[in-house]
Amino acid sequence: MEKNYKRTLITTALPYANGPVHIGHLAGVYVPADIYVRYLRLKGEDVLMIGGSDEHGVPITIKARKEGVTPQDIVDRYHKIIKDSFEEFGISFDVYSRTTSATHNATASEFFRRLYDKGEFVEKTAMQLYDEEANQFLADRYVTGKCPHCGNENAYGDQCEVCGTSLSPEELIDPKSAITGSKPVMRETKHWYLPLDKWEPALRKWILEDHKEWRPNVYGQCKSWLDLGLLPRAVSRDLDWGIPVPVEGAEGKVLYVWFDAPIGYISNTKELLPDSWQTYWKDKETRLIHFIGKDNIVFHCIVFPAMLMAYGDNFQLPDNVPANEFLNLEGDKISTSRNWAVWLHEYLRDFPGKQDVLRYVLTANAPETKDNDFTWRDFQTRNNSELVAILGNFVNRAVVLTEKYFGGTVPEAGTLEKIDQDAFNELAEIKQSLSDNLDHFRFRDALKDAMNIARLGNKYLQETEPWKVSKTDMQRTATILNVALQLCGSIAVAFEPFTPFASKKLCSILGIENLNWDMVGDSRLIPAGRKLGTVELLFEKIEDPAIEAQIKRLEDSKLQNKLNNWKVTPQAPAVDFETFKKCDIRVGTVLECKKVPKADKLLQFLIDDGMNKRTIVSGIAKYYNPEDLIGKQICFIANFEPRKLRGIMSEGMILSAENPDGSLVVIGPTGEVRPGAQVM
Ligand code: 2FM
Ligand code: ZN
Repeated sequence: MEKNYKRTLITTALPYANGPVHIGHLAGVYVPADIYVRYLRLKGEDVLMIGGSDEHGVPITIKARKEGVTPQDIVDRYHKIIKDSFEEFGISFDVYSRTTSATHNATASEFFRRLYDKGEFVEKTAMQLYDEEANQFLADRYVTGKCPHCGNENAYGDQCEVCGTSLSPEELIDPKSAITGSKPVMRETKHWYLPLDKWEPALRKWILEDHKEWRPNVYGQCKSWLDLGLLPRAVSRDLDWGIPVPVEGAEGKVLYVWFDAPIGYISNTKELLPDSWQTYWKDKETRLIHFIGKDNIVFHCIVFPAMLMAYGDNFQLPDNVPANEFLNLEGDKISTSRNWAVWLHEYLRDFPGKQDVLRYVLTANAPETKDNDFTWRDFQTRNNSELVAILGNFVNRAVVLTEKYFGGTVPEAGTLEKIDQDAFNELAEIKQSLSDNLDHFRFRDALKDAMNIARLGNKYLQETEPWKVSKTDMQRTATILNVALQLCGSIAVAFEPFTPFASKKLCSILGIENLNWDMVGDSRLIPAGRKLGTVELLFEKIEDPAIEAQIKRLEDSKLQNKLNNWKVTPQAPAVDFETFKKCDIRVGTVLECKKVPKADKLLQFLIDDGMNKRTIVSGIAKYYNPEDLIGKQICFIANFEPRKLRGIMSEGMILSAENPDGSLVVIGPTGEVRPGAQVM
């Protein structure tokens, strides 16, 4: 049910301040939210974009413990990195604050206290996992173990990242403390629970009946939660980092991070508008929209709405929650711990001034309906073949031709011909589709529409050929370039939500100020007689070395991970001497060694084996120069059954050992040995 509204409050998931943000966060939440907010601003709507760092919870304390610093040190460090990089990237928050702020502390405490006073919580004593070495209860990610659903050995106490199931620590099979590695015991502890079951009928009606327009992934996840039946959920934890539970008898207990974090949206609005924040939360004509990733759906569609209902006082429920699926990187899941990510602050350092390219690629590839993949090659292609070759090319041609034929002054349009009128008609159709897609959070399609204006422009110039017409008819040339410049004007405005930096440059060339959405499609946006600003390229080609450097960095990460996770293969079952002797291992001297033609991996050896010499083919070509092995002594299995490799009969197997990175090292004696000597 879409509603009539006067203002919109956009919230963006608060990223944990335990690390920088990466392209997965950007594609899932911040880029789409920013596009939407910029679009509403262009339409002149009353809109706020609320952001901030999520600074409580176990991910922060685990990171602090690992580094031997305080949680406050961690959040101070990452809050700054995140905030600065968002700003440089052009994410246009009205406020970006943090959940360690005094306003948030007071707001979250008051929220809990009101629910407590209204009798909205159930107080329960339950058995929970406790680490006797660390003297601490093991909440959430402080426990790892085997997932009872998919068997993943490294599931967390709150979630299995392999199958995506939400868990509680007690469900894990063979739980282990993430602090000391010890096996936890069960101990009794008291907590406050929000009885979600009480709100189930109201949630059911509100989502399943009144919000059938939500994205299928969001609606579907909510439906399956509701169909499974909701249970009371603990909203406190035994931890020493967080907002203290503000009631008596709660020493050592803090608010559960997922209780305090969404209240952060309220606190941050309050921080921005201390006097009028309530209008954005409690007025019926306000529309609340949460931009999040799919792992946050239950908290924003079920838990937080139940909290708001329990609080009462006219708090409005979200009108839509356009959650995205996940973005993968080069075919693999993005992972902070494996450093398999493109970090925003590093991107900004490596590609200065290219914010728009990443914004464009992440939107063109947005994981709106299914998980999607980011690859550096696709990034390069989209820049070079779309932004440069289609968008940049059209704008550049229109502006440069105006410079050439009219000294950079916008020429007067004469009578429009059919082809000119057709161009404006097509522009109007594109605008309609573009607006409709933006209104319904279909940002990928919206970007395609915006690009279609540039395609239309290129087609128009190709068909009207002002460079030819100028030889005979300057009046007609003037009309053509006027039309082309009007299309450029529409582009400048239509692209503002997607690529705000390029839009700004283009507006300055075309002299467009005070942008608004009505300008898109306006055939008289740029008045004749206006002097164009200095011509500059909107986009530049990205060359191979820049892309190769990024791919290399990822390959290095992969290697580092292999090294970090390398484990010695368990020992094979015992064998007796007779069995061992069945393998006839000898020392040989390499007489000749060369590459096997058309086989990347293979080297062909001629070995002095103390007998008749023999040929052996071995798959180690990637790790050795053949010349370097000549004269070396190696060990080989002499009675290994001969086999043909690439047409060469190989009589034995050269022994080698494998490194964690998969590279092979040939094994030989440490001193000089007679060829043919047996190894035992
Ligand atoms: O999943 C996360 O990264 C959480 N920090 C999101 C919190 S969203 C909101 F509720 F604050
Ligand atoms: Zn699992």
